[in-house]
Amino acid sequence: MKKLTIIGASGHGKVVADIASLNGYEEIEFLDDDRSISLCGLYPVVGTCMKASEIENDIFIAIGNANHRKKLFRMNRDKYLPILVHPDAVVAKDAKIGAGTVIMAGAVLNPGIKTGEGCIINTCASVDHDSSIGNYVHVAVGAHLCGTVTVGDETWIGAGSIVSNNVSICGGCTIGAGAVVIKDIKEKGTHIGVPARMMNELQKLRGGGILLDSFIYKVLTLYRQFHTAA
Ligand SMILES: CC(C)(COP(=O)(O)OP(=O)(O)OC[C@H]1O[C@@H](n2cnc3c(N)ncnc32)[C@H](O)[C@@H]1OP(=O)(O)O)[C@@H](O)C(=O)NCCC(=O)NCCS
Repeated sequence: MKKLTIIGASGHGKVVADIASLNGYEEIEFLDDDRSISLCGLYPVVGTCMKASEIENDIFIAIGNANHRKKLFRMNRDKYLPILVHPDAVVAKDAKIGAGTVIMAGAVLNPGIKTGEGCIINTCASVDHDSSIGNYVHVAVGAHLCGTVTVGDETWIGAGSIVSNNVSICGGCTIGAGAVVIKDIKEKGTHIGVPARMMNELQKLRGGGILLDSFIYKVLTLYRQFHTAA
């Protein structure tokens, strides 16, 4: 009988459990450090994360935070960490997927792609041909990586964002929801907007934008006053 212990009894864990049951796991349980949780979806929470060392089941780390996920991966290296793929995901024959990665419903992973370990390819996300993503990367709901994109370790590609073809994003970044990344990102940090820019830079530009708007408004007001008077 296939048995799985999932670390992280969250909403994400609930989705992972559903995919695990569709992948043939007949017995599923959770571990979580929040002792007040006794049930996650259909499955029981049987102890805290430390209990994993005593367990002989396969283990899946369903923790959203990349750094936390990495630590738990290191603690559970001696276990079998399966790859879970929803039956309604499309994964190319030659795709190379790292251990402990989950690929959710509607996701598309095209030929020549590679993922590191502990990645999350969320609902309806896509990773197009020859793209390569590092360890503990999360491609959030509906995000799209066009062809030959490279993403560094622990980067989070926000929901509904788009990364243009041939673009590289370094490790440790957060790409905001709905962003469009059109150029390489070489600096760690949060990048938002269309086109995506480092968060602080965007805010500075926005400040400049407001000043420019008010300058144009004043010029237009003076122009109207001048014409009305004439
Ligand atoms: C980018 C992000 C991480 C920033 O979060 P934060 O640091 O808490 O930022 P705040 O909400 O305080 O917003 C700071 C500023 O950035 C703007 N901003 C935040 N997220 C933005 C986004 N995705 N696109 C454009 N602007 C954004 C806010 O409007 C705000 O601007 P203001 O100061 O002019 O009002 C977050 O908004 C985001 O997009 N997260 C991704 C969520 C996601 O993809 N979830 C997927 C789950 S599967």
